[in-house]
Amino acid sequence: MRLVPSSLALLTSISLITTPCLARRKWNDTGRGTIAFEESWGTPEIVGPLGGASPEALVQIRADIIDVHNQRLKKMDANGIDFMILSCVTPCIQGISSPSLAASTAKSLNNELASQISNNTLRFGALAALSMHDPVEAAQELNRTVKELGFLGALVNDYQQAGANNDTLIFYDTPQFDPFWKMVTDLDVPVYFHPRVNIPIILNLSYSHAPFLIGASQEFQATLSTHVLGLCTNGVFDRFPTLKVIVGHMGERVPSDLFRIDSRLDAQRSIGLPMKQTVRSYWHTNLYSTTSGDFDTSLLLYHKSQIGLDRIMFSVDYPFDTMEDASGWVNSLGGGKGGNGGKGGGNALTPEELLALKRKTAIKVFKLNN
Ligand SMILES: *[C@@H]1O[C@H](CO)[C@@H](O)[C@H](O)[C@H]1NC(C)=O
Ligand SMILES: *[C@@H]1O[C@H](CO)[C@@H](O)[C@H](O)[C@H]1NC(C)=O
Ligand SMILES: *[C@@H]1O[C@H](CO)[C@@H](O)[C@H](O)[C@H]1NC(C)=O
Ligand SMILES: *[C@@H]1O[C@H](CO)[C@@H](O)[C@H](O)[C@H]1NC(C)=O
Ligand SMILES: *[C@@H]1O[C@H](CO)[C@@H](O)[C@H](O)[C@H]1NC(C)=O
Repeated sequence: MRLVPSSLALLTSISLITTPCLARRKWNDTGRGTIAFEESWGTPEIVGPLGGASPEALVQIRADIIDVHNQRLKKMDANGIDFMILSCVTPCIQGISSPSLAASTAKSLNNELASQISNNTLRFGALAALSMHDPVEAAQELNRTVKELGFLGALVNDYQQAGANNDTLIFYDTPQFDPFWKMVTDLDVPVYFHPRVNIPIILNLSYSHAPFLIGASQEFQATLSTHVLGLCTNGVFDRFPTLKVIVGHMGERVPSDLFRIDSRLDAQRSIGLPMKQTVRSYWHTNLYSTTSGDFDTSLLLYHKSQIGLDRIMFSVDYPFDTMEDASGWVNSLGGGKGGNGGKGGGNALTPEELLALKRKTAIKVFKLNN
């Protein structure tokens, strides 16, 4: 099924244009509400064991992941979130080692998500879950979800685990993945890089000495930033200059450390570094970050100085973070003349900058009004 708001819109677009195309997307555009798109959804079967909070909190989080039309929508209304783009909760397909099971599960989850939101595309959109075992198959499923289901891009949960012992890791920064990136750029949709928990052998070797660092406090950004920097250093953005990759949690710390990253990489150009530009430059051409789960004004202003506010977009990370916290923070930033020394709230951003952060950049990146 297609996420087409009305058959009339479809008929109009078909009668005006001879080549097949998606109907114009109609969403609940209040002119000021936010757009959020690192927002988890899942079927009861795909939600794996959750951690990092009390057992009671985890029961609620599980219920919030499965829900679409009840508490989620109520909180969106209460917090002025116009449009939420849903994606499968981590690790989703990236945690399935069998290529055939991963591919069939991705298809059925994408169909299920499309069906669940099909009666409210005013408020909900979707990012595809993809099996990343095979770049060509991933490209085909992305194409299917975008062209046939009206999805707005894909979200991958870091590396794809594989192998009979679940101990092979597939990263998407090698030339074998070029067919996938070619499809992504042909479709002109973004791919969101979201973290996942590591396979057991890595947890055992790297984190058993300090288990509280597993998850969002440290493990997620350490692992995912390596993958994102792999895309940079292996020249993926040189080969696909129009590729758009979104990195949540304020860019998984990468925009905080550009001087050291680029100066140490620069020293390796003479020994064969494939990357043609700099990591800093890709933040102006290919990479975007979001505020998901990282509601800190001074960090936002620092990243604005490093990569520009036009590369940063609002998101929540629901239900691991609350819509109240995310929205309360973002709405406290605006209205002033800009620059408050990072003390939080107040006049950190101009009204125009605030609108760009909350919605305008996302409308462009996801082509919501095209
Ligand atoms: C549109 O968004 C506003 C503000 O979030 C909300 O109050 C209203 O119910 C929404 N309309 C629809 C049709 O969902
Ligand atoms: C969409 O369907 C769900 C499940 O049946 C229902 O709870 C929800 O109210 C419906 N939403 C709209 C806008 O019709
Ligand atoms: C993408 O999907 C469309 C619609 O199903 C199909 O017509 C087209 O051939 C697909 N493109 C590729 C390259 O597979
Ligand atoms: C690999 O993962 C699957 C699914 O999570 C699990 O059933 C299986 O026991 C795992 N195999 C090993 C060797 O850990
Ligand atoms: C972790 O390491 C311990 C001791 O080195 C070992 O007994 C255990 O089987 C390992 N667990 C995994 C999941 O590799």
